[in-house]
Amino acid sequence: CRRITGVELQGYIRTIPDFPRPGILFRDITPLLGNAAAFRAAIDAMAAAAEAVQPGAIVGIESRGFLFGAPIADRLGLPFVPIRKEGKLPAARLTVEYALEYGESRLDIHQDALEAGTAAYIVDDVLATGGTALAAAKLVELVGGHVAGAGFLIELRGLGGRERLGAYRVDALLSFE
Ligand code: PRP
Ligand code: MG
Repeated sequence: CRRITGVELQGYIRTIPDFPRPGILFRDITPLLGNAAAFRAAIDAMAAAAEAVQPGAIVGIESRGFLFGAPIADRLGLPFVPIRKEGKLPAARLTVEYALEYGESRLDIHQDALEAGTAAYIVDDVLATGGTALAAAKLVELVGGHVAGAGFLIELRGLGGRERLGAYRVDALLSFE
């Protein structure tokens, strides 16, 4: 079985112009998810980046972050902690509000999601403005964990995400302008 490299993985991201609005180039991950070897190669590489910081838990951000965070946690034998959109988690929770391009949104975490001092590695599919990942980092810290790093399949350069997450280590497998 041939190894798929990062450069080749880029070919499994489909670019859709004018979605969801005119002028936006949407980076569609479904061709990568739909190819077993490509998906596995992406999880392998993202898991290796996470393992390098020796986290105690993997934190995935609903919804596309779950597609990568859960298999990475399984691969590394680590607990998986979901951060969900507002109102979905059933037990005692903390909420952080963050800005979207238009308007705002909220993310929740369970108060007992992390043991005190746990090094958490945050996983999502895409780093764009960094607002989502920064909200996730705040939630990790609010429940007593600390952020060991954040890993993404794709970094969209030029939107300031990496700068916004400046306090944290950022890993990205693929990068687009
Ligand atoms: C997308 C993407 C990231 C986030 C990146 O999620 O999956 O989570 O936006 O953008 P940012 O860096 O500017 O915050 P979206 O909110 O569209 O929801 P989804 O994962 O449920 O599709
Ligand atoms: Mg998302």
